[in-house]
Amino acid sequence: MSELGFGVVGTGFIAGIVANAIVAAQGARLSAVSSRKLANARQFVAERPGTEAVEGIDTLLAREDVSAVYVATPTSAKEAVALAAINAGKHVLVDKPLLDAGSAKRMTDAAAEKGVLFMDATHFVHHPRTAAILAAAPKKIGQTKSLHTTFYFPFDDRENIRFDLSQEPMGAVGDMAWYSMRAIVEYLRPAGKFDKIAVVPEFDAATGAVIRVSGLVGFESGEASTFDVGYTAGTAIMDLSLLGTRGMITMDDFVLDWNDSFAFNNADIPAGYTHRAGMADRAAFEFVETPSKTSQDTLMIQHFAEMVAGGDRRAFAASAEASIATQTLLDAIWLACQGR
Ligand SMILES: NC(=O)c1ccc[n+]([C@@H]2O[C@H](COP(=O)([O-])OP(=O)(O)OC[C@H]3O[C@@H](n4cnc5c(N)ncnc54)[C@H](OP(=O)(O)O)[C@@H]3O)[C@@H](O)[C@H]2O)c1
Repeated sequence: MSELGFGVVGTGFIAGIVANAIVAAQGARLSAVSSRKLANARQFVAERPGTEAVEGIDTLLAREDVSAVYVATPTSAKEAVALAAINAGKHVLVDKPLLDAGSAKRMTDAAAEKGVLFMDATHFVHHPRTAAILAAAPKKIGQTKSLHTTFYFPFDDRENIRFDLSQEPMGAVGDMAWYSMRAIVEYLRPAGKFDKIAVVPEFDAATGAVIRVSGLVGFESGEASTFDVGYTAGTAIMDLSLLGTRGMITMDDFVLDWNDSFAFNNADIPAGYTHRAGMADRAAFEFVETPSKTSQDTLMIQHFAEMVAGGDRRAFAASAEASIATQTLLDAIWLACQGR
């Protein structure tokens, strides 16, 4: 397989993480990085030899060695950048969240029309643990009925984009509840549409940004999901419980595995999930290891490159549908947070 040349838009926090994943990934190459200021791009590539620094998106998109664009800008800028890239015939990896489901639809429709891949940059779906759980769940826990997720990290930097409504309008809802909603899409897979939403949001007094939200989503087919996310718990929490008719699967690191993700790297904590069924006490819980030699962010890039190489339009459509479904749930929560 020839290497897929990536261009990165943005030089901030997550751009650095994913640029390193592109460098580490098989089947991908980091060709160029664009910034609104050339000096930023130059600084970014200084520790990534062989990568070109360019100013502005148009310069990046004109490059023949860029076949795919990773969009690592604030959410307010993502659609314009992604549409420009798609119209230039580039495959796009767009970081989460999206502005709203309408924006997701415009980008995914444009990508489908051009025959290019649209993927959102949700890392956990690419860890082999996710596929392992999906394969094992019917036998181990039966029919899935409810999902409970908690995702917090301590954060109060009011200079950060997460506290700026013009850049990240959904604040912690977009940043953190994205993962809870994606877990619904990946693991709960409700048969029907959502018909109940209840939320308890907390807004930052200084900036007006949402910093915490607890809530419930119910589906007409009977499944339900509770979620509790934000920056205010004083510790990192990444708990997930998936309850079926015959048992339960749990993780305490469902977003970023403790073993080898961009935030954690502890070889002593194996990646995996816990399964329990019947009247098992804690000693009888089963821990199922799902080891991965490659971190989930690098796997995301490898899967992206493999999908591009495969050219399967049904796979492209499934990727787009997962983004739209996640964002549609997120929009509903956000509307409820605003009392609408
Ligand atoms: N998937 C994940 O695990 C993950 C993790 C963290 C963040 N994220 C998401 O990624 C996004 C970026 O987060 P971050 O923490 O990396 O933010 P950040 O550190 O502020 O970086 C954003 C970068 O985007 C560029 N930028 C800013 N405004 C722009 C505009 N109007 N047009 C084009 N480029 C612009 C800037 O680079 P230049 O100044 O050089 O142009 C800036 O460094 C957020 O939406 C966040 O939710 C995802």
